[in-house]
Order: sequence, then structure tokens, then C-alpha cells
Amino acid sequence: VADDGYRLWLKYDRIQDAGLRKDYQKAAGFIASSGSSPILTTAATELQQGLEGLLGQKPPLVAPGSKTKGGILLSVDATANVSAGRTLGKDGYHIGRKNGSLVITGTTDAGVLYGVFALLRQLQTRQPLQNIDLTSSPKIQYRLLNHWDNPNGTVERGYAGSSIWKWYELPEHLDPRYQDYARANASIGINGVVINNVNASARYLTPEYIEKVAALAGVMRPYGIRVYMSVLWAAPKVIGGLSTSDPLDPKVKQWWTDRTNEIYRAIPDFGGFLVKANSEGEPGPQDYGRDHADGANMLADALGQHDGLVMWRAFVYKANSNGDRFKEAYQEFKPLDGRFKPKTLVQVKNGPIDFQSREPFHPLFGAMPRTPLVLEVQLTQEYLGFATHMVYLAPMFKETLDADTYAKGQGSTVAKVVDGSVDKHSVSGIAGVANIGSDRNWTGHPMGQANWYAFGRLAWDHTLSAQAIAEEWTRMSLTNEAPAVRTIADVLVKSRDIYVRYTTPLGLHHIMGQSIHYGPEPWLASSARPDWTSVYYHKADAAGLGFDRTAKGSNALGLYRPEVQQLWNDPQTCPPDYLLWFHHVGWNQQLSTGRTLWNELCTRYYTGVDSVTWMQQQWAAVQPQVDPELHADVTSRLQTQHKEALWWRDACVLYFQTHAKQPIPAPFAPPT
Ligand code: GCU
Repeated sequence: VADDGYRLWLKYDRIQDAGLRKDYQKAAGFIASSGSSPILTTAATELQQGLEGLLGQKPPLVAPGSKTKGGILLSVDATANVSAGRTLGKDGYHIGRKNGSLVITGTTDAGVLYGVFALLRQLQTRQPLQNIDLTSSPKIQYRLLNHWDNPNGTVERGYAGSSIWKWYELPEHLDPRYQDYARANASIGINGVVINNVNASARYLTPEYIEKVAALAGVMRPYGIRVYMSVLWAAPKVIGGLSTSDPLDPKVKQWWTDRTNEIYRAIPDFGGFLVKANSEGEPGPQDYGRDHADGANMLADALGQHDGLVMWRAFVYKANSNGDRFKEAYQEFKPLDGRFKPKTLVQVKNGPIDFQSREPFHPLFGAMPRTPLVLEVQLTQEYLGFATHMVYLAPMFKETLDADTYAKGQGSTVAKVVDGSVDKHSVSGIAGVANIGSDRNWTGHPMGQANWYAFGRLAWDHTLSAQAIAEEWTRMSLTNEAPAVRTIADVLVKSRDIYVRYTTPLGLHHIMGQSIHYGPEPWLASSARPDWTSVYYHKADAAGLGFDRTAKGSNALGLYRPEVQQLWNDPQTCPPDYLLWFHHVGWNQQLSTGRTLWNELCTRYYTGVDSVTWMQQQWAAVQPQVDPELHADVTSRLQTQHKEALWWRDACVLYFQTHAKQPIPAPFAPPT
């Protein structure tokens, strides 16, 4: 089957190895399901279709109990416990063997669906089924994609075409793509979708749009996915005819309560609201002298008895701040800990600035024990080369998830803060800003699909390794030939570090082109606001480079626990990858790598570009194992990546040289 990327990782192409196919066929003679709810029907149908594709024969759906041996049984058991010490959580599943059949048990209907996809994954990656005994439960409860899609079809920071939602066709016409989208999400455990941009239009709260959103919810529901909305804080004024949107005003409260009830009448399983308020010019409760908690709590009250959440974003920073933007969200939100009502979660980006290619973890993680925090990561590559650079993001997500906050002693990782285990929260969430658009292959860059996939897998189980996910995705999406799988996974896993080297090595950040956020612009010195320039962040001068965030400087480091401070406080021992985040380092200062700062900087930029050449070579080597169309697509994008890596290197090295006033070191110096 020619591969245009549309089928993502859900390729059910015939398994070529006849012996293996036979083994699988023996195990999959029929499917019997214990129920016929919409989600269980989805599960049985997906399994049947998947097996038909992979094995070339369609197992019949039979009544439960009519056959016992040699088939697959789907069953729901809310209290299923696999064995001592191996309990299943909500939406968890177990796949095992019983009386000569495979049994997929879920604690909920959705658990069965996830189990079905897990079983198909076993076949897609050619794993044996003989002694299968798989137990898995999601570690994080709410696993959401956030779409930054606008009503006019554009996508903020989207690089894969326009929005997949065709608002003008809804609610009557349902593009079949919505269902494929839901399948893909369900297959990796995503159970919620915020359908619109955080810079929200008020239109979504009108009857006209509620009806459209309800139609989408209808497509998502059989896949265990709930829809959510981003809301504009000023909506009561913009569409409600009120003179205020003060959260403490009774008319405003009533307006939100009425809107919420109206939404739930149309969408009984509506997920809730995402709010960007008093951030980057968006309206918010502070416009009325109220704070974020006042705003979030008012919406929680509006939700009342409905089973929905408020996710309130902590991505805030003030215009013309003279301090350090790094500290602002912490300063605004930390004092509010304990004030948020139970249905309210605070959504925090992985790092303190804005989705840079490497950031230290956000200091709010571990600092708000009384508030469940949603981790927000970005799948769309706003600062990581759009859809032209191959950058596999799982290593970056893992770097944040595995970072130790020391909030309750060693091992209080960001992952454990987010999954609720550190502070014993019963609600937990994670959000990925989607990289999905109308492009035939969904993500523009074919390898961008791996980031969507990896997000879902890590949201489900943050202990999985970036390497294992890369191999799994490669097997399902590109090839099952072991040497090629190894080569591709290796390139993927190294790609993010390579990107960092040729763009922002050693902890440099926010030196990209203004507004567009593409390409280098380290010389940018003036903009609408100081913290939208490059020089604000890199602070290059005759003496050296980097932002001093120690006690001598902005003391942003002081926001972290002493153990974390200790890690980053001393420029001699601070890992080079984080160095310029926290220190202004002399050009001639010797780093732990044995080179001076200037030489190390040049070395990273130059070897970073060389590594892109290496990526090109590795990709060329797997050509026989990969679909020709897809291979050629990635090859051409790698050419652009190489050209732009040179652009980044030369722009940055030459610019910083105007401060360092030193020659480019010998191995890299251009011929004179
Ligand atoms: C970034 C991005 C904006 C976006 C914002 C946010 O600043 O450039 O387009 O709106 O993040 O997360 O709210």
C-alpha cells in the first residue's frame, strides 16, 4: 500500500511472515464482546478491522459464551485485579490467556478499547502472543490535546495546513476525518480534546457553535474522548450584552452558569473549560481587581454539579516587566495555592519561559501542593523548526517529567507532581498543544507524527522511555526490519539534542526570529516589549554571555528547592546544557568540557550542523526499508534542515563574535 502518511501508526497492512501470521491467526479465530455500548462496539470493530488487515482474514463477531477456545474475549470488570500487587486503575486493562483464548479485560469500556489497541500494537510490532500477560493503567487521568484552532480555519502556531475542523460545514456534515482523528487519539490513550485556541473567540459560546461542537462530540464519544472549550474571559461583554466580566458580579456568574447549562444540554459529557486570562493582552479577572483564583472558582461554580473541569493557565507575564520573566508565573500563582476549588486545575508549561528547545522545569511544579497542576507541552514545533526540522520531542518531555523538584524529598519528580502522587491529588492532567492540521499526513513533517504518538504514550505512562516509544512508533509507522528500526529510532532519539546544538546550545534561549519564531535573530534589541527581544535573554557583552539568575542576578534560581539550586547554582558544576540559563559566563572561562565558553559555543554550533549531515546519511541508509514517497518527503525536509542549520550556526556565531571578539577556533575556522 502506497503510504501518504494518512493512516498514521494505525497501519494494518498484511504481515508478510507466513509463519507468524499463522500463529496470530490461531489466536484470533473469533471475537466475543460482553457488551454492546458504543465504546465496546468501537473496540470490537477496530479489532476486527485491524486483524483483517494484518492477518488477511476477518474474525467473526460471535455471541459471548458461544465459543471459548482460540478467540479473543472482550470484557468489562470494574473490580478486575490481575493478581496480588497488580491492580488495575480506572480505564486500565489486562491482556492475558484463559481457557485457550485471549482475554482483554478493562475496568471500563474505555479500558477495553485501550486494551484492543494494545493487542493490535503487539501484532503491529510483531510480538509473540503465547504467554501474553500485559497490565496497564493510565498514570494520569486527563490526557488532552489542546488545539490552537480558530473559527476562521487558521491554526495559531500550526504548520500542517489549516484546521481540521470545518466549522462552516458543521453540524450537518461530518468530515470522515474526524473519526480517523478520534481513532488515532484513542489508540494512544488520549481522552480529551480542547477544540479551540487559548486566544479564544467568544463565538464558541453561542448557540450556533455549541451545536457544531456537539456534533464533534458525537464523533469523539464512541472513542472515549470528551470535548472541551477554551473560553474568552470577556465573553459576557462580547456576546452577552453585559457591561462587565467581573467574576464576582452576580450577573456575570449567572451568565456563565446559563451558558454552561446550555452546553451540557447539548453535550452531556462536555469536559470543561480551558482559560488563558490576563496573559499576552487577553482579558481576565485582574481587569476588575480580582485574581486568577476568583476567576477559576467562578467558572467552577458555573459548572456546578456537571462533571467538568476548569483548567486555568499559568502562562502569564506582564508587559514591560523590569525583572525576570522567568519568575512571573510563580510570583502570581504560588500565593494562590489553596484558594482553587476542587474542580479547578492550574495548567503550567513545561518551562518558565515558553516552549524553548530546552528549559529547566517550571518552578511552579512542586511549589503548589494544594493545587493539581496540569503539565502543558507543545507538540507543534513553534520554536523547534516548524514542519521542516526533524525533532523527536519525547526526550524533551522526559527531561521535564523526570526532573526532580525535591518538593517532598528526593524522587518528587515533575511526573509525580503531575500524576498527583506527590501531593495525593485525585485529579491529574496533562496537555499537548497539537501539531495536527489539514495536511494529508496530519502533521506536515511525516516524522512529526511521532511526537503526537509519543505524547499520548507518555501521558498514559510517563515511565516509558523515549527510545522504546521511538522504536514502537517506527515499527508501526515505517518498517519492522530490525536494523532499520534501530537506525531510525537512533536518529529520532538524538534529533532534539542536535537541534539544540545548532540553534541554542549551552542554555541559550529565545534568540529566534521575532513574532514568526523561526530562524535566528540573536541581535534583536528592540520590540514592543523588552522580554520579546533576544538581548534580554542572552545578555551578550564584552565580558561574556548568559542570564545571571543566581542570587547575584535575578535570583530566579531561588524559586527552586535547595537541592535544585545546588545543581545549577555554581557555573563550574552546572551542567553545560543549562549553563547560560543561570549564569553570565566569561568568554574565556574554562567549562567542564575542557574548552573555553567561546570555543565550546562554536564547537556546539559546528558539530550540530555536522550532525544534521549524519542524520541525512542515516536516513539515506534506510531507503530500501521505507515507503519511497515518504522517504523522499523526509529527505527533502532534511535538506532544508541542513540549510537552515547552517543559517542558525553562521548567524549566531558571527553575531556572538561581535561581542567575544575572538576568531572561530581552528577546526571550524573558515579558510582565509
Ligand atoms: C506562545 C505563542 C503564542 C501563544 C502563547 C500561549 O507565546 O507564541 O502564540 O498564544 O504561547 O501559550 O498562550
